[in-house]
Amino acid sequence: MATILAIESSCDEMSVAILKDEKELLANVVASQIDIHKQYGGVVPEIASRKHVECVSTVLKEALRTANITIDDVDAIAVTKGPGLVGSLHVGMQEAKTLAIATNKPLIGVHHIAGHIYANAIENTIHYPCLALVVSGGHTELVYMKSEFNFEVVGTTYDDAIGEAYDKVGRVLHLPYPGGPEIDRMAHLGEHTYDLPVPLLDDSYNFSFSGLKSAVINLNHKFEQRGEEVRKNDLACTFQDVAVEVLSTKAIKAAVDLNVKEIIVAGGVSANKGLREKMAKSPVPVIFPPMKYCTDNAAMIASAASVMYRHEKFSELDISVKPHYDL
Ligand code: KG4
Ligand code: ZN
Repeated sequence: MATILAIESSCDEMSVAILKDEKELLANVVASQIDIHKQYGGVVPEIASRKHVECVSTVLKEALRTANITIDDVDAIAVTKGPGLVGSLHVGMQEAKTLAIATNKPLIGVHHIAGHIYANAIENTIHYPCLALVVSGGHTELVYMKSEFNFEVVGTTYDDAIGEAYDKVGRVLHLPYPGGPEIDRMAHLGEHTYDLPVPLLDDSYNFSFSGLKSAVINLNHKFEQRGEEVRKNDLACTFQDVAVEVLSTKAIKAAVDLNVKEIIVAGGVSANKGLREKMAKSPVPVIFPPMKYCTDNAAMIASAASVMYRHEKFSELDISVKPHYDL
């Protein structure tokens, strides 16, 4: 049993969380930069890392204040090691190393996707073997987990990640960044009236979303050329229906083939209402993370690090960030 202080700064959120004994979340402070990056239609890496430098100490102090503890009460310092934006990752890593050295506490470098997966363990218990459906801005993967912290990627995307496809469609439809939550909202106001290809591909557990994304972009372009406006809610609804159909079909097929006890959904797109509705019909039990732990936050990193702490998976103090990092 341990109290873990975790830092997550892989993209445009700076977050510090404190988790006691794997389940008791004492603090989860998230400083989002969405309002800044919105103006540019996407995350600007240089701005993201500069803003992280500006706010890291404040977020850290706020987390300790919220938890009502001092750094001496912490057993280990955890940090996202990768994947992510190199400059953003560095800010969290330097802070974590400094804290670990100054307080002589162990350092735990955590894979960002392991964090997303273990967001499911904060308020739930994961039963193994399970299958994680990882759906974020950078990843679309099916991960078989025979046992705790044992990851085998059995399916991945050949091209775009699902969150990336959502955000690109959002940009073409002139929606605010990030497009994912907005398309999800609009999908529930529209109807499935357009005809888009369902990229189920072959029998594999792999995905491809670039064809679907291009079909939406081309359809919208045709309307614009005719001087007409596409019915955005209906297009959002059609796109979302097709996307969640592919995700759920592949995840359920893999879960049945691999005979897992449950499917756990992870990553920013796990907030998607259409996906939640579709997966509710799965014959294999499904767990979603609570909404507050879906998009990037340090509570999920603390949760993964708590398991690593138990398995004594500590890091050397000279570890580097890994912008590209396999699970
Ligand atoms: O996990 P995350 O916060 O960051 C990465 O690790 O990538 O995921 C961010 C992604 C973005 O692409 C965003 O549009 C998407 O998650 N997202 C959603 C929803 N909420 C966030 N996509 C679809 N529906 C949502 N409700
Ligand atoms: Zn993420």
